[in-house]
Amino acid sequence: MTTTQQPIVAAQDGRATRPAAVPTGAPLAVRGVTVSYGEKPAVFSVDATFPAEAMSAIIGPNGAGKSTLLKAALGVIPRLSGEVYVFGQPVEKARERIAYVPQRASVDWDFPTTVMDVVQMGLYRKVGLLGRLSGQMAARARDCLDRVGMADFSHRQIGQLSGGQQQRVFLARALAQDADLYLLDEPFAGVDAATERAIIDVLKLLKAEGKAVVAVHHDLSTVSDYFDHVFLINVRRIAEGPVSDTFTTGNLQATYGGRLAATHLDELPVAGGV
Ligand SMILES: Nc1ncnc2c1ncn2[C@@H]1O[C@H](COP(=O)(O)OP(=O)(O)OP(=O)(O)O)[C@@H](O)[C@H]1O
Ligand SMILES: [Mg+2]
Repeated sequence: MTTTQQPIVAAQDGRATRPAAVPTGAPLAVRGVTVSYGEKPAVFSVDATFPAEAMSAIIGPNGAGKSTLLKAALGVIPRLSGEVYVFGQPVEKARERIAYVPQRASVDWDFPTTVMDVVQMGLYRKVGLLGRLSGQMAARARDCLDRVGMADFSHRQIGQLSGGQQQRVFLARALAQDADLYLLDEPFAGVDAATERAIIDVLKLLKAEGKAVVAVHHDLSTVSDYFDHVFLINVRRIAEGPVSDTFTTGNLQATYGGRLAATHLDELPVAGGV
């Protein structure tokens, strides 16, 4: 794989370190990223590379910095150090190639707006292309709602939907963006089995279309079913790689420490089996 030479950046302790080289084609490459909201970093000196045409999971305990890493990957929060590359370009130059579905708890659902409005927000960046053809925009938004099974709800206020329905609408908004990299923060949290199936089907279709999907994921029992690649984090990077050799009991123990019962670990379909 071809790589580009990276600048030397200052680490937290002041030492100069050269982060791992950036694979030019990777949909998302994070290099030496540290983010801090206060004195203690939420994400510390993280390197991560997410592969093309794959579904990747970001896994770690509550407060591990998963949402923070996604926001840093989007380039929407300040980094203390480090760089983020999207398809080999600094994220600041490639934002239009990313679609983002936030963690549900972080959204103000009382905001008075309809389902259709929410999905059309995903199209604003394309207004230049579509001009003022609002009919065309509406048709595209309806098509995206249809893909997630929400076409009948287009005039409903977003606050008047169930949690799973809201999640589907946010996925429709991301689809409307027609991005190359999809970042989703816990897309399956609090949804029923049917909605989870609907969402995973849409994500697998995106992968089949050649897109990269990166999702924060909590349900360890479905990791091997849904994902090709995992990134394990607990403030620092613990491990990353194909599910088949990285999603191991040892790596999970290193990520969760004592917070994951050994009995639970025994029941998981981890790499290498138990
Ligand atoms: N806006 C903020 N201001 C201050 N501290 C924050 C802020 N957002 C997150 N944090 C802190 O940063 C750390 C990482 O938070 P983050 O939301 O990234 O964790 P997470 O891995 O996504 O957790 P969860 O599984 O609960 O969603 C936590 O200790 C959290 O309290
Ligand atoms: Mg989170």
